[in-house]
Amino acid sequence: MAEFSASIAHEICQPLLGIAANAAASLRWLQRDVPDVDEAIAGLKDIRAGCERAANIVKALGALARQAPLQLQILNIDDVIREAIQLTQPALTAQRVRLETALSVNQSIVADAVQLQQLLVNLITNALEAMAGSAQEESVLRINSFNLKEGVEVCVEDNGPGIPAERREQIFGAFYTTKSTGLGVGLAICRAVVDAHHGRIWAQASACGGARMRFKLPTCCY
Ligand SMILES: Nc1ncnc2c1ncn2[C@@H]1O[C@H](COP(=O)(O)OP(=O)(O)OP(=O)(O)O)[C@@H](O)[C@H]1O
Ligand SMILES: [Mg+2]
Repeated sequence: MAEFSASIAHEICQPLLGIAANAAASLRWLQRDVPDVDEAIAGLKDIRAGCERAANIVKALGALARQAPLQLQILNIDDVIREAIQLTQPALTAQRVRLETALSVNQSIVADAVQLQQLLVNLITNALEAMAGSAQEESVLRINSFNLKEGVEVCVEDNGPGIPAERREQIFGAFYTTKSTGLGVGLAICRAVVDAHHGRIWAQASACGGARMRFKLPTCCY
């Protein structure tokens, strides 16, 4: 918790320091004998961006904190996967992603549908962002689901640049990001959701060189 608080403080401090510096600079541009309005406007735009970033961090923290309590219901994970695909369909289409699904779960689990949907949307979004930034000929997203003896397993795989072995645990930490506009909370939320369901989530290399994100959920988590 101490470590987490320190990283929150750091994340929020960065945009605030940027805002303060830009405000001071904009004031100086305006207080010149001949005010430079263009420079002041540029500074104000940076201030706006910094405010948005700080607000997004606070919003994301709210999302992390809101995880409990679970709204449990009997559901089929394949239905949740289909809904998540529908939600991300515009981005899948825009990016011309080839989607391959093999959904073969024929048992129900007791889980929170909204939280699982968020988990899947986060994983699909990450896959799309990874493939958008890399040079493969065709983007392929593969989503598989299986029955386990006492639960289900889901695998979301892409053919983007993949995740180096030494970072495959770090990526689940809050505020770890390699994206210029990322907050680094997507996978922290995924892990919080899976933990709340007494499941497990981890990252691997996909056979095609990309990332393979897998999670297991027990049939019943209470
Ligand atoms: N499918 C993937 N392929 C390659 N790298 C990935 C993939 N998924 C996650 N990562 C790496 O893990 C990091 C953390 O992911 P996470 O979803 O937590 O944050 P983010 O996507 O950077 O930002 P946010 O989700 O808050 O918008 C990413 O910045 C990226 O470096
Ligand atoms: Mg993300």
